[in-house]
Amino acid sequence: MMDLEQLRALALHGEPCAIIDRTALHHNLKLARNTASHSKILAVIKANAYGHGIVPVAQALSDADAFGVARLKEALALRDAGIMHPIVLLEGVYSHHDLELCARLQLQPVVHSFEQLQALEQWSSGEKLAVWCKVDTGMNRLGFSGSAFATAWSRLKTLPQVKQLVAMTHLADADDRHDLRTPNQVTRFKQLTDSLSVERSVSNSAGLLTSQALHMQWVRPGLMLYGMSPFADADASALGLRPVMTLLAPLIAIRHLEVGDEVGYGGTWRAQRKSCVGIVAGGYADGYPRHAKSGTPVGVAGRYVPLIGRVSMDMIAIDLTDVVHAEHQPKIQVGDPVVLWGDSLPVEQVAMHAGTIPYELVCAISQRVAIKYL
Ligand SMILES: Cc1ncc(COP(=O)(O)O)c(C=O)c1O
Repeated sequence: MMDLEQLRALALHGEPCAIIDRTALHHNLKLARNTASHSKILAVIKANAYGHGIVPVAQALSDADAFGVARLKEALALRDAGIMHPIVLLEGVYSHHDLELCARLQLQPVVHSFEQLQALEQWSSGEKLAVWCKVDTGMNRLGFSGSAFATAWSRLKTLPQVKQLVAMTHLADADDRHDLRTPNQVTRFKQLTDSLSVERSVSNSAGLLTSQALHMQWVRPGLMLYGMSPFADADASALGLRPVMTLLAPLIAIRHLEVGDEVGYGGTWRAQRKSCVGIVAGGYADGYPRHAKSGTPVGVAGRYVPLIGRVSMDMIAIDLTDVVHAEHQPKIQVGDPVVLWGDSLPVEQVAMHAGTIPYELVCAISQRVAIKYL
């Protein structure tokens, strides 16, 4: 954990801030590369690179073979910033206008439905696209299943608008390494695609970290690149991953309470002893989860202290009593930064206390939080 002096040097000026560690991004990409050493890497940077900033993250991950985004707008932002990697549109496109854009910007749409296939068939600009055809192997979200896949594939194969095809599927439960759904999905995928002799892609982070058998020609990691574990039973550090985002917020008040005093909306926390309470300028409008319970850990001066009471829009309260009375502890003062998650406080732990997943927390960092890149 960063010590208080290091944190103070980051000078928050009264506002929360997300620190993005680009060396950790490099490290995590390298780990993905070494783990799936025979595969190409499509780094998933949709949703503003899971809240980390799509353009700076793409620049930091320039060693990836391609990028994956959900929406056209995200791809446009990358091309506007001069990112020239292949970009796969994971939800694909539906109109001729968007197919034109794909051709002009060299984007590779996923085709997962007959509506998209028909739009592609009727598009006659003379341009050619690389296309990823999505197979539904049991998740029942997007993709062609069973005989529909065979039909879609044979139509795509003969289209002059298609210059290259990749077959892909998505795993519904790879984050549980013992779940039989994953081997069943892979078997289904292989049955449908073994005879096609094309490049194939199955794995998200969980698949990539589970087994070489799931790697194929392309892996598609997202979460692990940002240093988070996809597994409930293995933390990120045990997997060799380094957290990329540290969310900091400044202490803006220190209060001394008597036994019985209550804190925050609804007075849901009551002091059982004389207490020292810190008020931190970071709340649900910044992306800190409103459902985080009393007891959720927060990092202060190299120690963990508990969140107390309800999370407000702009603030949380923390119990500093044990820290201010501890020996050899630097004096805590207004203006000091506290760690909401990241450095030595895995976002996975905060997510668990809030009854959610780390994906949701990092993606929900709001626009008013400044992002600083180290
Ligand atoms: C199609 C597809 N592939 C890969 C990923 C990356 O998944 P993860 O972040 O779990 O690695 C996602 C993310 O949701 C996805 O939708």
